[in-house]
Amino acid sequence: MDDTRGHRCIIEPFKIKVVEPLNMRSRAEREESLRRAGYNLFLLPSEEVTFDFLTDSGTTAMSAAQWGAMMVADESYAGSRSFARFEKVVHALTGYPVVIPTHQGRAAERLLFSVIVKPGSRIPSNNHFDTTRANIEQLGGEAVDLVIAEGTNPASTYPFKGNIDIERLDAFCAENRGKIPCGMLTLTNNAGGGQPVSLENLRAASEVYRRHGIAFIVDACRFAENSFLIKSREIGQEGRSVREIAQETFSLADGCLMSAKKDGLSNIGGFIALKSREWMDGLRNLLILTEGFPTYGGLAARDLEAIAVGLEEVLDERYLSYRIAVTRYLAEGLNRLGFPTVQPPGGHAVFVDAKAFLSHIPPEQYPGQALVVELYLSEGIRSCEIGSVMFGRRSQGAFQPAAMELVRLAIPRRVYTQSHFDYILEGMEEIVPRRNRIRGFRMVHEPPYLRHFTARFEPLS
Ligand code: F0G
Repeated sequence: MDDTRGHRCIIEPFKIKVVEPLNMRSRAEREESLRRAGYNLFLLPSEEVTFDFLTDSGTTAMSAAQWGAMMVADESYAGSRSFARFEKVVHALTGYPVVIPTHQGRAAERLLFSVIVKPGSRIPSNNHFDTTRANIEQLGGEAVDLVIAEGTNPASTYPFKGNIDIERLDAFCAENRGKIPCGMLTLTNNAGGGQPVSLENLRAASEVYRRHGIAFIVDACRFAENSFLIKSREIGQEGRSVREIAQETFSLADGCLMSAKKDGLSNIGGFIALKSREWMDGLRNLLILTEGFPTYGGLAARDLEAIAVGLEEVLDERYLSYRIAVTRYLAEGLNRLGFPTVQPPGGHAVFVDAKAFLSHIPPEQYPGQALVVELYLSEGIRSCEIGSVMFGRRSQGAFQPAAMELVRLAIPRRVYTQSHFDYILEGMEEIVPRRNRIRGFRMVHEPPYLRHFTARFEPLS
């Protein structure tokens, strides 16, 4: 890019006008916090966390332009000017005429699936995100993951590990004729490690869905990061603008579900946007019943303004190049220290392979949880276990581990600077030589559903 001529260093492409203090705690205070929280970081008050990498969702630092737009929002119940602006931006980006605002991504999922999913419905995708899957299953449908084989191998460096297996998709559509109300792709593939889907794969999936007469809906939460990764990794795409790639992505589908808490650069919000008006009346009726009038859909008009500005800002290629560089910087730094991570680094998060790093801790002693606790103790980092705490099961008394024991460091947008990451990496270096002394955990309180949110643990001696 012209303005970084001659520099290898990619800088934060913003200056900072509003700051928040970083909460620093001593190791002794953190030990006490952990005991109180039963070693579950979801149960910690955020002021006891120094670096919060629990999620990239809703945690963005908004720009001066977004805050400015919020002040001039039109809070009218019906026909708000802010909705008109929001609708225009979504239309210009996606090309879709039908735009339905919702309060966040899962509300968009619930609305759409309530209209189209019936008991026995089957919906294919690369990998469904948890809330997408849960909303489909809640209605008696089945969410089916058809990601390519590389997508489940943490060490594979294939550049588009979010791709769907086109052959299996084609066979699946043929075998389930009449049972598939829509087919999906998640961009980027969050549940599969934040890995991108290539344009070639998007085109092929679109062709398969069209041939089988199935509506193609993209989960577009991280569409800009996906488009930027296409531009930087896919042969033949390097000369195009990210906006063009994003527009082609949307043109290949029949609609999208969006959580604006990610690439909408906003703290709340989402939407459904569609090419056809076929489902519109059903969706609007449900929207009015459970979210709000069609020109605000569960949001304040100021949120619609923030999203409208965010959807434009996120396509700034200097921003995206910085964003992807941050993820790569953290992943490569960790690899240099000896922490294995899912390869190659994806868009919004770094996933540490805790099974490989803490190979002396068996899955039933939760190596991912042990690493989450260790990162908090030594650096004040809050991360998220995606392993046997989240997905492990007990069937007929025997423990069934999850397929992988990962720890996700999801990076909030525009929040932490390079020196924060240097500080973290410096501190994490000290963990490596004593990793064999890190102990596993025992779960002492196990709730029946979504146990990772409220389970309590005890360290094993
Ligand atoms: N789809 C994907 C791919 C997501 O990552 C999320 C949320 C949703 C849908 C739901 O959107 O939170 O606005 O209701 N992911 C967050 C995360 C929670 O931490 O990965 P939402």
